[in-house]
Amino acid sequence: MTIINNSANLAYINVNQAIEKLNNGELVAIPTETVYGLAANINIGGAIDNIYKLKGRPNNHPLIVHVHQNFDVEKYAKVNYIAQKLIDNFWPAPLTLVLPKTKYISEYITGGQNTVAIRSPNHILTQEVLGELNCGVAAPSANKFGYISPTKAIHVYNEYINHDMKDIKLSILDGGDCEIGLESTIVYINGDNTITILRHGMLSINELSALVEVKEKPEVKISKIENTPRVSGELLSHYAPKTNMSILTQQQLINFNTVSIGTESFILCFSDTFHQIKLNCENMRDEYITEYIKMLSSNPNEYAHDLYDTLRNADNICQSKKISKIYIEQIPDNIEWIAIQDRLNKASHK
Ligand code: TXA
Ligand code: MG
Repeated sequence: MTIINNSANLAYINVNQAIEKLNNGELVAIPTETVYGLAANINIGGAIDNIYKLKGRPNNHPLIVHVHQNFDVEKYAKVNYIAQKLIDNFWPAPLTLVLPKTKYISEYITGGQNTVAIRSPNHILTQEVLGELNCGVAAPSANKFGYISPTKAIHVYNEYINHDMKDIKLSILDGGDCEIGLESTIVYINGDNTITILRHGMLSINELSALVEVKEKPEVKISKIENTPRVSGELLSHYAPKTNMSILTQQQLINFNTVSIGTESFILCFSDTFHQIKLNCENMRDEYITEYIKMLSSNPNEYAHDLYDTLRNADNICQSKKISKIYIEQIPDNIEWIAIQDRLNKASHK
């Protein structure tokens, strides 16, 4: 096996260097409030091409265009009354709008569709970069296709340090931990001035429906319908660790056969459950238990913030110690947890 080490192709940079590199058609991992994005200047075809190559993403999966909060969105999209209302009330925000595109957005970015997904991210460094660039950047989450989205700069670094870079250079603008930790809410503006949520995020239905009418998403696979938007998060398996993962109820975890912990299984659960499982782990040292059973917050915002980092760490431990299974506790069935539920379902689907 050849060991690849990409330190020559990976570098940390500052805001000015990020602007320069994006202007020169290089890829830059940018921080946002949701997750890190793998950004390229939308006016440089070769740079967009490199996003698909580096991520290993099929090129009919459209990218989100990110713009500065004062950018004239009309340049890239047809902005109707409802879209304008959402922009005025929320942006910069974890809210992506799918709108009819203009000629300035190539079909290469939109996967051949006549709509563009566009948002203004709420992160000070990325706003600075976008303000200077004076054009949009296309950026999917900076993970490799199908893997967990990065919420720290080091996640991006670790993702590509041993990866075949295909001679592509990637620079990372470190903007700290992503505040929200889950990808943006994506909405489609319907012809009748209602909206449909294509992907749930931590900007909630309640916040949106205070302003506009939100329609239920049809219970069909979007990718199978002609003329409807394709959302790659629609794939059943996505955001997934390499280790097989299953969702268990609190009761199932409390009854869990503790002998397998740390050898065959790894557990992620709420603190109540943690303490109950611990009572069953009679002969285990505390350090052993806390290495293989991790607690997640019962506050949905804190949970979302920590989830991907916790999953990456769990996955790394499982891969290096040959632990075959991650068990994660079922979360509450209510609207505050809907985006998290969506990601857990996809991460646990094989
Ligand atoms: O929070 C986020 O949205 C992050 C950060 C980096 O901004 N980005 C992100 O990008 O999650 P990505 O590529 O991992 O997911 C974007 C989703 C994809 O599922 C894609 O299919 C969908 O947006 N999308 C893009 N353009 C679309 C369009 N024209 N119609 C419908 N869906 C679209
Ligand atoms: Mg993604």
